[in-house]
Amino acid sequence: QAAEKGGYAHFMLKEIHEQPRALRDTLAGRLQGDGWVRLEGVNFTPEEAAALEKVAIIACGTAHYAGMVGKYLLEKLLRLPVEDDVASEFRYRESVLNERTLGLVISQSGETADTLASLREARKAGAQILAITNVVGSSVAREADHIIYTWAGPEIAVASTKAYLTQVAALFLLALYLGERRGVAPRAPGLARGLKELPGRVEEVLKLEPRIRELAGRMAAHEHAFFIGRGLDYPVSLEGALKLKEISYLHAEAYAAGELKHGTLALIEEGTPVVALATQAELLEKMLSNIKEVKARGAWVLALTQEGNTAVAAEADAVLYLPPVPSILAPVVTVVPLQLLAYYTAVARGCDVDKPRNLAKSVTVE
Ligand code: G6P
Repeated sequence: QAAEKGGYAHFMLKEIHEQPRALRDTLAGRLQGDGWVRLEGVNFTPEEAAALEKVAIIACGTAHYAGMVGKYLLEKLLRLPVEDDVASEFRYRESVLNERTLGLVISQSGETADTLASLREARKAGAQILAITNVVGSSVAREADHIIYTWAGPEIAVASTKAYLTQVAALFLLALYLGERRGVAPRAPGLARGLKELPGRVEEVLKLEPRIRELAGRMAAHEHAFFIGRGLDYPVSLEGALKLKEISYLHAEAYAAGELKHGTLALIEEGTPVVALATQAELLEKMLSNIKEVKARGAWVLALTQEGNTAVAAEADAVLYLPPVPSILAPVVTVVPLQLLAYYTAVARGCDVDKPRNLAKSVTVE
């Protein structure tokens, strides 16, 4: 096993470091030089793409948080209504679907029982199914009409890292693909170029590791932590909190920053760690006032923001600077420090990082 871990202490750490390579593999051959996206398993004619009226995203756990990023970006880039559900709710809530709906199923393993059952429900209602999965020949892959493989390679650690990142990258590819075919590509100038640069950006962000390790030492002493963000930072906050909960057993809660006043603020005490994501240029002012709000109640704030956002640095207790990427691509780089934060917090607390208690890599029971 030591050899399989490639010199890393845990599979999770190895998989975090594999992300630049995994992203390159996800994007390889799909982003063409002329900006056209070619997805080998996806076959929509322009007419079929234009006929889509709704996207229903269905997934569980981390894959669902990737899906939430997908909802924000598909709506933003395509102006197409998108709903997202955890599969265990989708199955029973009687969502209104028809043949003009795209059922977008996301699953690393392709075997999650609720996800698979939801795929069948969506198909029964007439939806076309597009799957984003990592496992070739998995049940989800076999039952879908269209498929995007993430090519992340085997993921061993229970807590998903490279699978999430490549699912988000696949969602960007899908948005570009459908955008081109629906004739709305100009809504995302520079996106294809930004996507190509992402593996290098993730390499840069991995250099924050020693600093994150120090910060994790501080987190490890607490029993509660909060993650806040707005817009695309919100689903990333949810994923960051989930990572921390899963492997360090520290109670973490993610909140849409604008909702703080409606609940979480009551829980902030002297020294409570709050991880504030501030990567969305148009929401920066609002995030700043949320940071001030929690600081005024005694929170210890760790902010993640792009280089140059000195106003955020001035308010926070600690800052992790992210490489400059367009706001829309920020979810791909922002999640990486959060994975490392969860990892080093779990290590500091002496937890079994790769095999957290009570959790399984693939949930094939309902
Ligand atoms: C389990 C795993 C998670 C994963 C979820 C969905 O809970 O521990 O890491 O996100 O299942 O799995 P899937 O294979 O469908 O992506």
